[in-house]
Order: sequence, then C-alpha cells, then structure tokens
Amino acid sequence: MTKILLFGSKGQLGKEIKKNISNDYKVYALHKHSRKYCGNFLENKKVIQSIRDIQPDIIINASAYTSVDDAEANRKAVKKINIITPQKIAYEASKISALLIHFSSDYVFSGRGKKPWNENSPTTPKNYYGFSKAECDRMITSSGCKYTIIRSSWIYGVKGKNFFNTIIELSRKKTELNVINDQIGAPTSTIFIAKAVEEIINDYLLNKNKSKFLNQIFHIVPEGFASWYEFAFQILTNLEKMRFKKKLCKDKIIKVLSKDFPQKALRPLNSRLNINKAKKTFDLKFLTWQEDLENIIYLKLNNK
Ligand SMILES: NC(=O)c1ccc[n+]([C@@H]2O[C@H](COP(=O)([O-])OP(=O)(O)OC[C@H]3O[C@@H](n4cnc5c(N)ncnc54)[C@H](OP(=O)(O)O)[C@@H]3O)[C@@H](O)[C@H]2O)c1
Repeated sequence: MTKILLFGSKGQLGKEIKKNISNDYKVYALHKHSRKYCGNFLENKKVIQSIRDIQPDIIINASAYTSVDDAEANRKAVKKINIITPQKIAYEASKISALLIHFSSDYVFSGRGKKPWNENSPTTPKNYYGFSKAECDRMITSSGCKYTIIRSSWIYGVKGKNFFNTIIELSRKKTELNVINDQIGAPTSTIFIAKAVEEIINDYLLNKNKSKFLNQIFHIVPEGFASWYEFAFQILTNLEKMRFKKKLCKDKIIKVLSKDFPQKALRPLNSRLNINKAKKTFDLKFLTWQEDLENIIYLKLNNK
C-alpha cells in the first residue's frame, strides 16, 4: 500500500490535505505534538528517524513557522523549522526515492511593480519569513530529491487563524474597520490547494518518474487578484447575501495604506502570482478568487 507521510497535519492547509487524501493510501499524519513518530521540526534528528521508520512513498510538508511578524524576532526557530529541517527531509527523501511535496509563498518576492510573478522570477524577500521560504525553495530544488513545490498566497480555510476568519469574527464585534488597500494578491482557499495536491499525488503514483509535476515549482492561486480591502469587502458582501448576523456593514470598511498600518515585518505590495504554467499542466479548474470564496463562505456558515 502506498504510504504518505504528512507533516503539519494540524495546520489549516495540513488539515484540508489530510481530509482530502484518498482512503486507498496509508496516511501518517504528524504534527508538532505527535507521539509515536516525531513531527516537531525543532527536533530534526527525530523527524529524520521517523522518515526512516515509516519509509513513505510521498512526503508532504505543510509544517512551517508562519507568523510573519513574530518571525523577525525568532530567527533561530524560523531557520530550523522553515529551512534546516525541510532541507534534511529533502535529503532523506532523495535517499529513499520519495516524492517531496512542499509549499512556498508569495512572500519570497519583493512586491515591486504590478505584474504577476513567474515561477522563475528572482526572489528578493522583504522579511525574514519570506527569506526562509525562498532559502528553503533553493535548498529543495538543489537537494537531488524528487519534489513538487506549490507556491501560493493569502491562504485561508474554514478553520484556522487567517484573514477570512478574522474578518468574520470582527464583523460581529465592530462597526467600523480599517483594511489595507495597497497590497494586492489572490486569496486562495485550502480546498483549492488540497485539490492540486491530490492531482500531483495521483499523477505521480501513475507515472512515477515521468510525472509531469516532477521537479517543478508551480504558482497555484485562483484567477484574478484583489487588495486586502477588496477581499474583506467581498467577504462582507457574501455574509450579507447569506443574512449572517453582524454589526459591520461593508460600506464601513475603510481603505488604509500599508504605511499607516505599521507591522513588525514589511510586506510585499504586489503578491500577484502568474498561474499560466499551472493552468497548462493541471486538470484543476481555476476558479476566480470570488467563486472560491463563495464556496468557502457557504461551508463556513453551514458548519461543514
Ligand atoms: N497562510 C498563508 O497565507 C500562506 C501563503 C503562502 C504559503 N503558505 C505556506 O503554506 C504552508 C502551510 O501554511 P498554513 O497556512 O497551513 O499555516 P499554519 O496553519 O500556520 O500551519 C503551519 C503548521 O506548522 C506547524 N508548526 C509550527 N512550528 C512547528 C514545529 N516546530 N514543528 C512542526 N510543525 C510546526 C504549526 O503548528 P502551531 O500552529 O501549533 O505552531 C501549524 O500547524 C506553509 O509552508 C506556509 O509557509 C502559507
């Protein structure tokens, strides 16, 4: 039976991937506090031993230090979790000939200009989290392991700490809200990414070393782009359509600039990712971000 080892199974993306993996496979879903095997990236020797014990066909890494602002002051931990342990995992994957599926971020780019970034655009991150993700991409792509890297942006799921859930929560409490309007990107649901992962797994198991996804980076986000303000506005529009009880009206969201909203880590202004390569390679239907959002709001409000 095919064995799939998933790291980060309690994160928002990890949870969705776990839910979406076929029952035909034996899944080892590990997280920071797993007992039988180790999924804590601060203990990389134990993590590597777990890989040796399990001998997976596919390793999916959804673990990461994702708190962008805290990352600035916690560089040692970020380096271990986002660079060193994934690098060791990649090396181990190459030894056992396992496929490594890994996730990267829009934050690897500088954010200059208005054009969407390609998979091979230069990475010049603006903060330490972005630096760690870019460095990890470099390590994995030069490790000699079989890999597929999905680079995405503004990820949100029905559950988990994310912008989508924060806006819904605040809409119950606040009557006015400032939201940044000069950073643009594509809001991307965990469900959308989990479907891409499913396609990568199926194609790899069918075609092995001839899989079309092998040793590639793909930008995977829905069609279109928005500012955080437009994303918040669209969330509220959907909530109003579905008669969700809240205090905040969509016309009470106030557009602000990044410079008026100081955060510990700088953010790229332009997080648009070019999805042409992914659209040519995947069978996945690339929804617009608004369609993707509508599906997630429906699931959220119906407790699915
Ligand atoms: N969120 C986004 O907007 C976004 C955008 C682009 C790319 N990505 C990438 O997508 C991937 C999944 O992110 P996500 O959105 O699902 O974030 P998430 O919900 O924060 O998931 C990351 C998981 O990693 C875990 N983790 C933290 N420290 C760890 C450690 N020492 N050992 C093992 N696991 C540890 C976290 O556990 P705790 O929560 O308990 O610490 C969490 O469960 C990451 O590679 C991220 O960089 C995310």
